[in-house]
Amino acid sequence: MRKNIVAGNWKMNKTFEEAEELVSKLANGFDKKYLKCEVVICPPSPYLEMVSDYAEESVFDVGAQNVSEYENGAYTGEISAEMLSSIELEYCIVGHSERRKYFNESNSQISAKIDRLLDFGIHPIFCCGEVLNEREKGIQFDVIKSQIAKSLFLLNKDEFSNIVMAYEPVWAIGTGKTAKPEQAQEMHAFIRSLIAEHYDNETANNTTILYGGSCNAKNAHELFANNDVDGGLIGGASLKAQDFIAIAKSF
Ligand code: PGA
Repeated sequence: MRKNIVAGNWKMNKTFEEAEELVSKLANGFDKKYLKCEVVICPPSPYLEMVSDYAEESVFDVGAQNVSEYENGAYTGEISAEMLSSIELEYCIVGHSERRKYFNESNSQISAKIDRLLDFGIHPIFCCGEVLNEREKGIQFDVIKSQIAKSLFLLNKDEFSNIVMAYEPVWAIGTGKTAKPEQAQEMHAFIRSLIAEHYDNETANNTTILYGGSCNAKNAHELFANNDVDGGLIGGASLKAQDFIAIAKSF
């Protein structure tokens, strides 16, 4: 079901102590009365349980940043969807551009990860986005269409209804160059039209599509005000309690 979501992706940052300090500030800082969105925090995996303990006393949900494409067994260093589900996680990021770039994750691996998550009732937060060179060539719509077709459109309509989408132009991630609100809106509307074409209008209207890439407390309101932008996937600005709380209040 379509809803507003602000998700924080802490990436590979913070010691346990620092992470606990941040999450305790967040847990105290969020107030159900003013929140018009769901908040999801995605810490590094060794902190998932600790953050989940704080979540129990607060209003946010917890997500993982990655999952194995395999079910279980001899895959040293990997974390399975079953493990994530056994600590009751609701969300997991998949297809982030950093995983595509530094760990060579392919569309088919991403698709397998999505299948594993859906097997255990975890909502994948599926990231797609073009690099600068692709935008400069004007092929950003083809790139997004291909990423979505190869990893998501293999799902049937019921399965797809569990997906949260995140459009993250790679040139905007961690660079301070946010997409203009009209660029975000244009791509989000395009993504919704692809979903309508592949499934139907109802499915498209029910899909949550987040924007990610240098979204911060100053620009969040302008981005979230667009019809097809249902919230944000926040990297750098999710590491500071005050900023992340301000972003969640931007609806
Ligand atoms: P950023 O990262 O907000 O630091 O640009 C966003 C993301 O990678 O999800």
